[in-house]
Amino acid sequence: MFGLPTLVSLFALVAAKAAQASPCVAFDANFNLLVFGLDGKDWNAGTQDSWSNGTATDITASGRPSFDASNTTCYLAQFYNAIYVLNGDSSDPSAVYIYDAATKSWSTQSVTTGKFSPSNFAAILDHDTNVFYAISGTDLFYLNMEAETSANSTALSWTDVETDPFPSSYTQPVMALAQNHIHFLDVPDVPAGEAKIFVIHYSYFQPDAQSYPASSGNSFPAAHGKTASFFQSEGVQQEFAFIPDDGSATYVINVENNSTTSYAGPTSKDADSSYAASITALVQLDSTGNLYFFPYTEGDTSANTAASWTKVTAVSKVAPASSVAASGTGSHSGSASATGSATGSAGGASSTGTSGSSSSANTAAKMSRGLLAAGVLGLVAYLF
Ligand SMILES: *[C@@H]1O[C@H](CO)[C@@H](O)[C@H](O)[C@H]1NC(C)=O
Ligand SMILES: *[C@@H]1O[C@H](CO)[C@@H](O)[C@H](O)[C@H]1NC(C)=O
Ligand SMILES: *[C@@H]1O[C@H](CO)[C@@H](O)[C@H](O)[C@H]1NC(C)=O
Ligand SMILES: *[C@@H]1O[C@H](CO)[C@@H](O)[C@H](O)[C@H]1NC(C)=O
Ligand SMILES: *[C@@H]1O[C@H](CO)[C@@H](O)[C@H](O)[C@H]1NC(C)=O
Repeated sequence: MFGLPTLVSLFALVAAKAAQASPCVAFDANFNLLVFGLDGKDWNAGTQDSWSNGTATDITASGRPSFDASNTTCYLAQFYNAIYVLNGDSSDPSAVYIYDAATKSWSTQSVTTGKFSPSNFAAILDHDTNVFYAISGTDLFYLNMEAETSANSTALSWTDVETDPFPSSYTQPVMALAQNHIHFLDVPDVPAGEAKIFVIHYSYFQPDAQSYPASSGNSFPAAHGKTASFFQSEGVQQEFAFIPDDGSATYVINVENNSTTSYAGPTSKDADSSYAASITALVQLDSTGNLYFFPYTEGDTSANTAASWTKVTAVSKVAPASSVAASGTGSHSGSASATGSATGSAGGASSTGTSGSSSSANTAAKMSRGLLAAGVLGLVAYLF
């Protein structure tokens, strides 16, 4: 069956796996900034007023996923103050890892996948129903998380809703959530500034694309990218950010008045970044582990136009990023989407994607030699 692998090839395999490890970023319901799997630990950077001058707290706790998988994505269940992690651990790719932010504890929800593929999907977590919706392959699926802040001993199931209406060439869906409507960007044959919509409450794909023009004339491009939905102090999200893979701008799409406004693109131009949004900030985690935030004021275009991306030093001082610079040309790989917050994004990469080739060297460099060696030994033990 397989030839005897050499130790060198085993090492390469482990290194490649390490290279795909993806930390993820999310908020808890009090809008503390959480970063999981960064330098092997999980961190709470507190609220926005302490990101520039505070120090993140180590919240690494037992029962956590190892954050050793690729395409890891995290979602805030705002009503339950829980973070759901998909693809958190390569040993159990179908599980949903649940972080209960109130008790700072982890549990593992087992999930039956059916036709849903954990290695190929994009998802959002619907705000009001706490149901995941995902595109995997050619189908739309849902997974109802009910009110879970910890795992139920009964397995949950991904349910196949229907074949999606998209062309088969749409292999890296870009998904975003606002007003219980799932927005699909970068759909083939849909022009710039327009999105296809799935209405969650009616389980209905709108046949026509919706237009989100910019008064500047510069609406979002028909391009792959990542998304994150801004939360509201009350109720469902009404706006989401879209950052194309080239990082050229940050587009904010408002689904109340059907508009798009563009602001500064992230300082770190990194297609393998992932994003999360609170009510007042958009946060970027790039593929080398740098965290930046863009302060955002809903309804204040001039404040947002003047705003700039700033490093979250509360995290960098305790979990420094790799010194290797991120390249802007990572592969679109993430498949899982996410975007962190309840908005997912993209498939392929959107949101969360992470994992591109550009991050490999860095992530691998972050792995300790001991861990690599242990991985090799484990793999040897597994194979023989
Ligand atoms: C940190 O910065 C915030 C906002 O800039 C400020 O309100 C707060 O007082 C500062 N805290 C410390 C300890 O310097
Ligand atoms: C990660 O996403 C890429 C792009 O969708 C996909 O090709 C790959 O199989 C995924 N990897 C895993 C382990 O899910
Ligand atoms: C587990 O899930 C089942 C099915 O949704 C539900 O009926 C049951 O109440 C849940 N149990 C707990 C302890 O939450
Ligand atoms: C946004 O567009 C939709 C669909 O075209 C329309 O029904 C709605 O009235 C528009 N909203 C506003 C505020 O223009
Ligand atoms: C739409 O509403 C947002 C949020 O209040 C506002 O910033 C934006 O200027 C509005 N756009 C238009 C075209 O009315």
